[in-house]
Amino acid sequence: MAKITYIEHNGTAHEVDVQPGMTVMEGARDNGIPGIEADCGGACACSTCHVYVAAEWVDRLPAKDPMEEDMLDFAWQPDPVLSRLTCQLKVTEELDGLVVNLPERQI
Ligand code: FES
Repeated sequence: MAKITYIEHNGTAHEVDVQPGMTVMEGARDNGIPGIEADCGGACACSTCHVYVAAEWVDRLPAKDPMEEDMLDFAWQPDPVLSRLTCQLKVTEELDGLVVNLPERQI
């Protein structure tokens, strides 16, 4: 299991255990965490699973592929360094301790 902390825009933190093999988006969805809408169901086609990764995690995550980069342009106030689409982040044991910050809104 990997412990992942999702922090809502209002500062409310949700620390949950997520099964490796799932995505960070699925971990939020299955634990009822508000703020990640995932309208396209994880197909990298909507940008409503956008988060800002905690700065210390940026270099510890797999690089964005071009499709994720393109879709992030449609997210709410994307950050060139911190923004990720959670449906594109596969959970592994190495992600234990990951912290992600949810944007003010999803579009
Ligand atoms: Fe739609 Fe991630 S769920 S892009």
